[in-house]
Amino acid sequence: MLVISLVAVIKLLLLFLAFMLLGTVGFIMASFRNKVPFVPTPKRIIRMMVDMAGIQPNERICDLGSGTGRIIFTAAKKNKQNLVVGFEKSFTLRLISKFWLWVRPWLKKRVRIIEADFFNLDLFDYNVIFCFLTPEAMRSLAPKFQTLKPGSRLISYMFPLEDTQNFQEAIEHVGDKDSIYYYKKVS
Ligand SMILES: C[S@@+](CC[C@H](N)C(=O)[O-])C[C@H]1O[C@@H](n2cnc3c(N)ncnc32)[C@H](O)[C@@H]1O
Repeated sequence: MLVISLVAVIKLLLLFLAFMLLGTVGFIMASFRNKVPFVPTPKRIIRMMVDMAGIQPNERICDLGSGTGRIIFTAAKKNKQNLVVGFEKSFTLRLISKFWLWVRPWLKKRVRIIEADFFNLDLFDYNVIFCFLTPEAMRSLAPKFQTLKPGSRLISYMFPLEDTQNFQEAIEHVGDKDSIYYYKKVS
């Protein structure tokens, strides 16, 4: 009897895991219909991006399209005197990142996950902006990046700014195809 119920529990668990896996794959595939799909930045790259940003106490940090919150949580854990904001359009991804925030209650005071379309944001108040978008999104956001305060940094994984006027630029090649682009507003 006990053996049967154990087998039943294992079967149910496997079924649940299969559903979760299918759901995740389905969600990621569906997100490719969006202009900027959901593709998480690798953890190693995130650590490099956060280090490159040279975050100072009290600077405001944001991630444009924060996905499941990987970048914002890494930035908030490493920099304990900063407000870190994730702007995300997708309800599901906001829900997942809010779950991760719920399991890290000590970050609640400094981390915000906000429903927003990053094309409509005012970025002036942010000192450090992280993003992993697409070439088209970088092009559309370029006028907004020009409104940043001098000294603000933009750190983009994979996709560069085409027009680097008013920015000091640095590029870190991290693999054959991967690069991190760093821009510091100079005027
Ligand atoms: C390539 S993923 C990067 C996710 C996360 N920043 C990371 O590095 O793991 C791009 C994210 O932008 C979000 N996104 C796409 N268009 C958006 C928009 N207009 N406003 C806000 N978020 C958007 C997607 O849902 C997705 O989570």
